[in-house]
Amino acid sequence: MNALSCPLCRLPLTLNTQGVACERGHQFDRAKEGYFNLLPVQYKHSLQPGDAKQQLDARRQFLQAGFFAPLKSQLQKLLPDTAKNLLDIGCGEGYFTNSFAEALPEAHIYGVDIAKPGVRLAAKAAGAKGLGGHLTYAVASSFDLPLADGSIDVITRIYAPSKDAELCRVMGTAGLLVIVAPGEQHLLGLRRRIYREVRPHQQTPVPEGFRLADEQRVTADLVIEQPAMRAALLAMTPFVWRINQQLKADLIDNLFEDRLDFSILIYNKI
Ligand SMILES: C[S@@+](CC[C@H](N)C(=O)[O-])C[C@H]1O[C@@H](n2cnc3c(N)ncnc32)[C@H](O)[C@@H]1O
Ligand SMILES: [Zn+2]
Repeated sequence: MNALSCPLCRLPLTLNTQGVACERGHQFDRAKEGYFNLLPVQYKHSLQPGDAKQQLDARRQFLQAGFFAPLKSQLQKLLPDTAKNLLDIGCGEGYFTNSFAEALPEAHIYGVDIAKPGVRLAAKAAGAKGLGGHLTYAVASSFDLPLADGSIDVITRIYAPSKDAELCRVMGTAGLLVIVAPGEQHLLGLRRRIYREVRPHQQTPVPEGFRLADEQRVTADLVIEQPAMRAALLAMTPFVWRINQQLKADLIDNLFEDRLDFSILIYNKI
């Protein structure tokens, strides 16, 4: 099933030779990497919304090196293999999204992100892995998803924003929502070097229309031996904006060890 809907008039989008179109003739061409741009220019609140290319490249470099592999395998394990349509919100450069497509070969996977450079990287990687056939990437906002009502049975949201009403609208009746958020110990060593007072991460509120069904935790030691990888970690986190050049250089030069701590929250639709 194709769950895409027109971002301008909400009618279903169907495939044609150039891309996808609705019955009213709104046409969205397929980019050469295979994704669709479903973020109408009038809905763009800035010239380049979402994460910047530099941040996305750093994330790609760090994730590809396998530092978040424990989270990736835990997520792959918990996905129901009966899933038909999975949506990954704020898919970034597609590390997790592409791994979901590998874990669920029978399902159709949708990855959306408001940052075009992210979606471009994600689609390119999916094409290179031969996953394109059951994966659709789109530039779109999680606050206004170009997907039909009730069309999705698993939504994943890893460190990305969303709007409860939109999650509820696109989610089918027996749907599962999986949210990944930082746990208490996550990068605590790094945060202690940066902030005078380390505040605990904010609790993730239960999205309206959902009920918490399960909570899992993934923890692992993080040892980063290469300075380039330490630089990548700094560049992909919001911390980087807060630190002075001297501290940044010191963190990159000196091997540091830290802890990964992810909280996986699993919700059912009420
Ligand atoms: C920290 S990154 C996480 C990316 C990916 N989920 C991962 O874990 O590798 C957050 C992502 O959310 C995206 N984002 C921010 N606001 C968004 C919105 N309104 N709609 C969709 N994506 C958004 C950013 O562009 C960025 O790629
Ligand atoms: Zn339309």
